[in-house]
Amino acid sequence: MSDDIGARRLLVRDLAQLATPAGTRTPLRGAALREVDVVDDAYILCEDGRIVAAGPMRGLDATLGGDTSRIEELDGRGLCAVPGLVDCHTHACFGGDRVAEFELRSTGASYEELHAAGGGILATVEATRAAGEAGLADAVRRHRGWMRRAGTTTFEAKSGYGLDRDTELASLRAIRDAGGSPTWLGAHAVPPEFDKADEYLDFALTEVLPEAARVALAADVFVEEGAFSVEHARRYLEACRGAGLSLRLHGDQFTELGAIPLAIDLGARSVDHLEATGETGVRALASSDVTAVLLPASALYLDRPMPPGRALVDAGAVVALATDFNPGSAFCESLPLVTSLAVTQLHLTPAEALSACTVNAAHVLGRGAETGRIAPGYAADLVLLAAPDWRYLSYHLGGPVIAGVIEAGEVAWTAADGADEPAARR
Ligand code: NIG
Ligand code: FE
Repeated sequence: MSDDIGARRLLVRDLAQLATPAGTRTPLRGAALREVDVVDDAYILCEDGRIVAAGPMRGLDATLGGDTSRIEELDGRGLCAVPGLVDCHTHACFGGDRVAEFELRSTGASYEELHAAGGGILATVEATRAAGEAGLADAVRRHRGWMRRAGTTTFEAKSGYGLDRDTELASLRAIRDAGGSPTWLGAHAVPPEFDKADEYLDFALTEVLPEAARVALAADVFVEEGAFSVEHARRYLEACRGAGLSLRLHGDQFTELGAIPLAIDLGARSVDHLEATGETGVRALASSDVTAVLLPASALYLDRPMPPGRALVDAGAVVALATDFNPGSAFCESLPLVTSLAVTQLHLTPAEALSACTVNAAHVLGRGAETGRIAPGYAADLVLLAAPDWRYLSYHLGGPVIAGVIEAGEVAWTAADGADEPAARR
């Protein structure tokens, strides 16, 4: 709420372009997904963390009405503004790395073989348990910094590399304290101290869920051969729903086991991955309210087939994009790169890709009414692109496209800030 004494205002002026998902409806699907409003020679006025006005420079004087007090100005010449990017699927809380596994995969070992041999996710579980609460807090803060300089202003992150009570709860707190939206991925893998998935779930649902539900906003499960069956997932998700969490699923990454019908039946927020989804799954998602979260960086990194992005959009499904940032299947925090893959590999348009990692991704996190558009009332989270046209976001594959990041109406990062904190092994 603005007030005469405390109102802080930020005016981003003389932007080459401003581009935002059009309208006010959330989530967007079908033709509405590719409706992006573009304003040339534009300004954006922020006040107390919210956008209060945006439009062509010729309307600025009328908006200000002669009151230029307490305005900090940012020169947007040569830059384009898009909404701050929303990464709705990351595993940003982990210890160690999997660079040795990365090399092994380059010489022919498959991701599933490494997992079955106790590597993969379980290797990261060991390193994450050893990191300690302070180490995990450091890791999430560092990864959050990497995401920010890639244009991400809102992020979700999952636990799931602890799989014991203390490490799962420490992970959720570290994510929350770094400003993330915490998801309890209590059913990521069966940890080594349990023989059977059901025995592990007995423990997780009794000993961890009550406390996890105080910190997490959502729950997630990995439905896959070698991880959790549809029956296990139903048991886990029903208990989590009972504790007030919204529901997410990792589904159809390698095998179509029935994650989509389960997600629809339980009223889940999303089912994520979908690299193995066929026509029936596409049709089912299209006639539901479950968001299909596509993770093309993960498919690329594991050299797997891409998810059926174009078919999902054409069928009318709600589609979002995310990085899946994690140390094994997608060591990539860049949503701009993900939008490039969405256009070149999933055959989405640049506009569809923008909406999918802004307003639709915010919808997955339950924030679609307040985050993901450049419009009055929305959070003043913006990305300034070093480009003459907003479509460079996806056009410039892996390029230095981010000039600045604004969070809650304040400059959070600019390209002039220099190098990132480097990766650490612990
Ligand atoms: O979404 N598929 C399951 N979980 C993660 C990968 C985790 C890992 O390899 O550490 C994913 O790809
Ligand atoms: Fe994932």
